[in-house]
Amino acid sequence: MYPNVFDPATASAESIRLLFILVLAICGGILAIVWGVLAWCLVRYRRSGTQEPPQVYGSHPIEIAWTAFPSLIVLVLVLITVRCLNEVHAVPSSEEGEPIAVRVVGHQWWWEYAYDGFTTANELHLPAGRPVMLQLESVDVCHSFWVPRLAGKMDLIPGRRNLLRFRCDIPGVYLGQCAEFCGTQHANMLLRVIVEPADEFDAWRASQRQRDVAGDHPGAKVFARLACVRCHAIRGTSADGLFGPDLTHLMSRTTLGAGVMVNNRENLRRWIRDPQPDKPGCLMPGFDLGRAEMDALVGYLERLR
Ligand code: CUA
Repeated sequence: MYPNVFDPATASAESIRLLFILVLAICGGILAIVWGVLAWCLVRYRRSGTQEPPQVYGSHPIEIAWTAFPSLIVLVLVLITVRCLNEVHAVPSSEEGEPIAVRVVGHQWWWEYAYDGFTTANELHLPAGRPVMLQLESVDVCHSFWVPRLAGKMDLIPGRRNLLRFRCDIPGVYLGQCAEFCGTQHANMLLRVIVEPADEFDAWRASQRQRDVAGDHPGAKVFARLACVRCHAIRGTSADGLFGPDLTHLMSRTTLGAGVMVNNRENLRRWIRDPQPDKPGCLMPGFDLGRAEMDALVGYLERLR
């Protein structure tokens, strides 16, 4: 579950791990040779010794050797890197099935996921065993999508669309992290990818497509009266703000604030009252509500399953 580059769950993460180990081995070998020669020189030609080392200047064989070997090493590094890039960016063959496309939009400091027919936030659900194509975009500054066990880092750049492809066959929860400094809460821009068997994914998708699941509730009026509606959308209601996460199925998510806290009643209240202590600098203001209003609002949000 933890973001571990040494425990790949996809072919693309495996080829990155392999590249990392190869480069580490080559560079480790160079380090060992340099330190070895250095240590030998220190001992062999230390001051208390009598010999002066042979003074060589302009020796062709030596100059050719120290140009050719590093060039060869760089060439090898380039070749294995290009091979890895090709593996990581490979377009899946049509036999692997139709890829599932999700538009991922980076915001300060949360993730928007637009599927065919609905939008959700922060927790990305994907079907196991099917190729995935993420279309990465940003509405503000550069972010970077990085879930080490699934794929390499890929930046989300304003005004540009980057593609990230992988296929994960092992159901599970994969954690990640925004990997490009994007402001005060960069470190709390956490990623949670839930890879699930095809039938569970289909059930999740069907439930996410439903609109306005809370129905008539006194809290709906509180929500509509407060500034919530300017930033948050609840499909099927008048709330259609796009600035913050879509809340249509808020309670289907396990965390709040892009992974900073567990999503439950107590934390919802805490978050609405003042999100700043838990996510300093975050763009949501606090709402100092009376007890009755807070109860109604949280009761309403809890019905958004
Ligand atoms: Cu988004 Cu760092």
